Amino acid sequence: MEKIIIEGGARLDGIVRISGAKNAALPVIVASILTDKENKINNVPSLKDVDTTCQLLKGIGVRVERSEDGQVIADASHINDTEASYDLVRTMRASVLVLGPLLARLGKAKVSLPGGCAIGARPINLHLKGLEMLGAKITLEHGYIVAEAKKLKGNRIYFDIATVTGTENVMMAAVLAEGKTIIENAAREPEVVNLASVLNSMGALIRGAGTDIIEIDGVTKLKGGEHTVIPDRIETGTFMVGAAITGGDVEMKDCIPEHIEPLTMKLREAGAYVDTGEGWIRVRGNGRTESVDVKTAPYPGFPTDMQAQLMTLMTISEGTSVITETIFENRFMHVAELRRMGADIKVEGNTAVINGVTKLSAAPLMATDLRASASLILAGLAAEGETVISRVYHLDRGYEAIEKKLSALGAKVRRIK
Ligand code: EPZ
Repeated sequence: MEKIIIEGGARLDGIVRISGAKNAALPVIVASILTDKENKINNVPSLKDVDTTCQLLKGIGVRVERSEDGQVIADASHINDTEASYDLVRTMRASVLVLGPLLARLGKAKVSLPGGCAIGARPINLHLKGLEMLGAKITLEHGYIVAEAKKLKGNRIYFDIATVTGTENVMMAAVLAEGKTIIENAAREPEVVNLASVLNSMGALIRGAGTDIIEIDGVTKLKGGEHTVIPDRIETGTFMVGAAITGGDVEMKDCIPEHIEPLTMKLREAGAYVDTGEGWIRVRGNGRTESVDVKTAPYPGFPTDMQAQLMTLMTISEGTSVITETIFENRFMHVAELRRMGADIKVEGNTAVINGVTKLSAAPLMATDLRASASLILAGLAAEGETVISRVYHLDRGYEAIEKKLSALGAKVRRIK
């Protein structure tokens, strides 16, 4: 079991390059199932979840090659299976994204129903309802979803919740369905837009991605192509908070400022200096930050994936902050760990009230989920003394070489076996 050790107190100073977005790379790689032509995907981050996705595709007969510089080549011309096994889905619930493409390309799919996860039950009922409305017959057998469809037909689909991967799953099924599909209350996340533009460059006819109504005219075949994954807005936000919490001066480059606008506004409100430009954001600390209130929401609202990281900053800000988590029912796992460092946080249902303290004190901590792990790293940077974080495999799912990037900015951080 690896651990990460952080000696607190160092400012973060310098320039950090933002990697490709995990949550854009996964669906774009999976979309290669939709065609028998080769797809080249650039700016793919080297993360555990990307490894799992490539392993999943290889397991059903897709030729997948990866290069050191972040390119993935995928060729599904000889796809020979339609099953995503339990042990793969167990390690990465985003494996359910193969449902739509397998149904569209081969007319059948067998995917393990994902279990719950640390942050919530995370059902996929909306994915299944959407695919059924496109004509799929879906049954549950021994923990597996078994889906079949002679030919998918376009339909009008309304999502009660703007589900990100649900929108992606249905969109990938609809691009090869007969006729028109309209998705209402679609997710508007940049990762959905990235997927839609990749599908359109493969010959799909998708309009409205990025708004809550997406229209798709089915086509008979898709071609291959070369695509690029957008930068990771959550990695960007994590380093932005790192600069503010250590009173440092950090430039995030190769990022897209408007994708993390809600955090920029909150950090400015808290008193940090945030400047943005074409492909870069610069954050400078400005003494102790002020407390701000935040309510997470689907894009373009404040991202739930940044909630834990901002809470860490609030634990040592001046005043009282109220943070409300509206997306997942159990996304305060980091609170207990932060309390052990001296944070003053009260949780009432899906709301946390944080009274800022002047200092956190280092402690042995345990990571519970991907973004909570990032919040503990940030706490360790700001705390007095040496923080030791265990179960860092959570971190490796979503952050490419985070301790190398932090050390390059001056942090005293190392990983031990
Ligand atoms: C995506 O998860 C991201 N993962 C998550 O990032 C992110 O936190 C989440 O969107 C919200 O932004 C990927 O893109 C791979 P949802 P997803 O479906 O698609 C409920 C990270 O840290 N819901 O938008 O699974 C669900 O329970 C990860 O990188 C249903 O009830 O999230 C949740 O409460 C964590 N039924 C809400 O909707 C469904 O069929 C939003 O979930 C689907 C979702």
